[in-house]
Parts: sequence; structure tokens; C-alpha cells
Amino acid sequence: MKIRQYLELQYFLLLRLFARRPAVAPSTGSLADEFLKEYYSQGSGGGTWYDTRWLGARVLKCPFDLWVYQEILFETQPSLIVETGTFEGGGALFLASICDLIGKGKVITIDAKERSGRPAHPRITYWTGSSVDPAMVARARERAAGESVMVILDSDHRKDHVSQELAVWSPLVTEGNYLIVEDTSLNGHPVVPEHGPGPMEAVAEFVNRTTDFEVDRSREKFLISFNPRGYLRRVCGTGRSGFGRTEEEGKAS
Ligand SMILES: C[S@@+](CC[C@H](N)C(=O)[O-])C[C@H]1O[C@@H](n2cnc3c(N)ncnc32)[C@H](O)[C@@H]1O
Repeated sequence: MKIRQYLELQYFLLLRLFARRPAVAPSTGSLADEFLKEYYSQGSGGGTWYDTRWLGARVLKCPFDLWVYQEILFETQPSLIVETGTFEGGGALFLASICDLIGKGKVITIDAKERSGRPAHPRITYWTGSSVDPAMVARARERAAGESVMVILDSDHRKDHVSQELAVWSPLVTEGNYLIVEDTSLNGHPVVPEHGPGPMEAVAEFVNRTTDFEVDRSREKFLISFNPRGYLRRVCGTGRSGFGRTEEEGKAS
């Protein structure tokens, strides 16, 4: 009996030894990309991606990204979150729900279009207008004074628009907080190759021209993200990149 137990033990030790072989780092290449392409194309036809809901409200974000949002919110605890692009309000409701759990945070969500049936929540304020309208940005800047601010860009995904948004909204993000650019996966990164220059191209130009933000790729740890290179962390609070300042403000500084 004892010999048998000894042999079993050796057998299991050997198994564990082999099981402990260094894991090959998961590839961020083809397998994840192929999955994302499949997931996205299912959604474009009205399937999963377009039918993801938070407490009943449609949210056009990837569930892995929503989990990452939750982690970021808990870590950084912003007092104000600005989202451009509301759609049906599911994204804003998700943010507000996490804020409820944390016990902190308000959400301003901006959309060019009014829409009925968006969820009402005491932490959410809906603003209607263009996300690059200077009056809208000025209003937000005033509201953001003294707050710890996170910004999410999720409106018009064409490169020129996202570049404009990055220019006007990045200065509101306070040090240590995140500026999240949604849907950098468009234009073949890896989905919708026919999209044309979009968020990814806008981010690439933006990060080349500023040292205030760092691309935080650790936020892509689940491998599947709609926002590759889209998690930007404000590492420097000087605002010296020139983004978001008028020509006069730039000259004055
Ligand atoms: C991708 S959806 C937003 C999804 C939403 N954030 C969510 O999590 O479910 C894009 C939204 O951006 C809005 N939009 C498009 N261009 C805009 C602009 N210039 N300013 C503000 N909103 C805009 C559209 O009306 C649409 O509702």
C-alpha cells in the first residue's frame, strides 16, 4: 500500500512539474484578432455586439472593456466622467452603476442627438450637442473645475473628428486619470478594414505630439478589446502639449 502511495505521489509530482512549464505568453496576434473580427461581424448584423445590455440598456462596448473600465474607475476614483457619444445611454448607466458601488463620481454624457428612453440616474447628466462645439467644451471645462476627471471618446469615429476631440477634451483629464478612445480597433485594427482612418490613426498622431499621456497597454490584458492603444493615462499634469488651447492661450503661455 505504501509503495503504491509513493508511486502515486511521484506520478502527481511529475504531472505538476510538466504543468509548470513556463506558459507561452498569450499572443495578441491572430487568435485574438480572429475572435474579435468574428465577434464584431456577428454584431454588425444586429447580433451580440449590438445587443449587449447593462441593466436593460443597450451599451455599445465590449464586455471585456467594461470590466477594465470597472478596474480603472475603482483604481482612479474620478469625481467626474465625461463621455462623448451617448447613444442609448447604456455606457453611461454602466459608469454610473460602478460609481454607485464605489460611492463616488458623476457622469456627463454628450450626444449630437436627443433620444427618448435613455436611463434616468441621479449620477448621469445628458447634454445634447456636438462634442467638438466650443460652447459645449467650455461648459464642461467650467463644470470640471476642481474635479478629478476621466474622459471617454465614443462619438463619431472618423479620424478628423477624434483628433478634434482629443485636442479639446484631453486638457480636462487630470493627472493619473484616463482618456479612453473607443473603437481604435476600426480600420483593420483588426475590424472593419474598409472604415478609413479612424480612432487608431488619431491616437497615433496625438501620442506622437504629447508627453502628457501614455498608452497603457496593460489595460488590454484580456486580449480582446475594442480599444487597442486606446487607453491613455495622463502622466503629466502640466498641459504643456498645446492640445486644447486656443492660439491665443498658446501664445500667452
Ligand atoms: C458608438 S455610439 C456611442 C455608444 C455609447 N457610448 C455606449 O457606450 O453605448 C456613437 C454616438 O455618437 C453620437 N455622435 C456622433 N457624432 C457626434 C458628435 N459630433 N457629437 C456628439 N455625439 C455624436 C451618435 O449620435 C451616437 O449616438
